[in-house]
Amino acid sequence: MRRNIDDLNATEIATLRAGIAAMKARPISDPTSWEYQAAIHGHSSGASQPAWNSCQHGSFFFLSWHRMYLHFFERILRDASGDPNFALPYWDYTDLTNPNARQLPDEFLTPADASTNPLFTSNRRAVINAGGSIAASAVSFADAYDLTVFSSTNGASTFGGQEVGAPIHAGFPHSEFESTPHDDVHVQVGGGMGSFEEAALDPIFWLHHANIDRLWEGWLQGPGRSNPSSGLWLTQMFTFFDENGNQVPMSGADIVNTAQDLSYTYDALPPAPQSEETVVVVEEQELVVIGDTTNVEFQEDGSFTIIVIEEESEESGTYELTLADVEVEALPGGHYEVYVNVPEGVTPNYDSRYYVGNLSFFGLKPRDQVEPGSEGRSSIHQYDITDLVADLRATNEWTGEAEVTFVLAAPEPPPGFAEPEDEPPAIYIGRISISRG
Ligand code: C2O
Repeated sequence: MRRNIDDLNATEIATLRAGIAAMKARPISDPTSWEYQAAIHGHSSGASQPAWNSCQHGSFFFLSWHRMYLHFFERILRDASGDPNFALPYWDYTDLTNPNARQLPDEFLTPADASTNPLFTSNRRAVINAGGSIAASAVSFADAYDLTVFSSTNGASTFGGQEVGAPIHAGFPHSEFESTPHDDVHVQVGGGMGSFEEAALDPIFWLHHANIDRLWEGWLQGPGRSNPSSGLWLTQMFTFFDENGNQVPMSGADIVNTAQDLSYTYDALPPAPQSEETVVVVEEQELVVIGDTTNVEFQEDGSFTIIVIEEESEESGTYELTLADVEVEALPGGHYEVYVNVPEGVTPNYDSRYYVGNLSFFGLKPRDQVEPGSEGRSSIHQYDITDLVADLRATNEWTGEAEVTFVLAAPEPPPGFAEPEDEPPAIYIGRISISRG
C-alpha cells in the first residue's frame, strides 16, 4: 500500500533512504541505478541507451506511461531497500487540511546534505529548500477534476490529454490535469525538477508522481469517468527495466487495475469529483478565431488587450483562449496565473471568476539553447473560457474587448527568507487568440 510520506515512521524513512542510497551507488551503465532510471525520463544525450528519453508528455500516454515508470522504479527501489514490503510513499501537496502540505516533506530538506541524506539535493529553488511553500494555485486541481472526458483528438477540456497515433516525448498542449497540478509543481520546486532531463534525479519527483497517480485514481471515482477502453492507449508498448536489470515491455492494458495488475493501492484517495457536466468536446477545426494579438513579450507580469469581433446574434457557443508559440528567455520564478477581464483596481486572485488557469513551462528550454522548430523550443496552451464568457456577458463585462493578464506565482518564502532579486526572464507569446465554436 502506497501511503502518505507524513505517516511513515522513522524505520520506514530509513528504509526509503537506504534504498535510494543503494541505487545512487550503482553506475549509470546499470539499468537499476538511480541515474539510468532518471535517464529513462530524460537525458541530455537523447535516446542513446535503451529506453532513455522516453517520458510521455502532451498526450493521453502521460498518465499511463508515468504509472508504468513508477511501477518498475518501485520494484527496483524495494529490492534495493531490502524490505520486501516496501511501497513508494506520496507527497500530498493537495491536502487542504494540512497547512504544511505545500512544503517539501521535512525528510527531503534536513539534513541539507546529499552525502548523508539521499532525499536532499541542492538542485532545487533555494526558497523551497529553505522550507518555502509552492504557490497555492499550483495545486488547484478542482477544474481538472470537473472534466469528465479522458481524451479527445485535440485534448482540449479532457482530463487525460490528446489522442495520438504514436508515442510523443515532448508534445503540447498538455491536458488541464497535466498542467495543474503536475507541471506547476515541477516548476515551483524548480532546479532539476524544472526539466525533463534532470527531474527524476530529485527524489521528490517520485513522490510527486505517486501523488499524480493517486489523483488519477481519485478522478476515476467520479460519475461518468473512465479510462480509454479501446485503441492505442491500451496496446502501445513501452520499454522499462525490472529489478534484475532485464528489459521489459509494458502497455496500457497492463496497468488499468493497480491492485490486480501492479499489486498496489493507495491508503486514501481525495474526495471524488461530483460534477457530471459533460463538456462538449469541440474539435480544433470547428473553432473560429474572433480576436487576437501577436508577438507579445513581458517580464514579470503582463496585460494584453484583444479586440473581439462577434455577430450580435452569436450569443452562445464554446470559447477558447489559446497561447501559441510560447517561448522563454529562461525559466521564470514559478508559473503564471492567467486571467481574463480582471476589473481595474481588483487584485487578480486565482479564486476569482476571472482566473482561467495556469501557464507553466515544464518541458520548455530557454529559446537560445534550441533551434527554431525543434523539440522543447516552443509550446501551445489552451483554456476553455466558455463559462467565464457567459458569466461576463451576464454582468455586461463582455464588451468586445478581452484583456488577458499574466501574473507570476512564485513559491511563498518562509519567515525571514530573503532571496536575491534576479531580473525576471522575458516570456514571448507568438499569438494570443480567442476563438469560438
Ligand atoms: Cu515526465 Cu512529472 O514528468
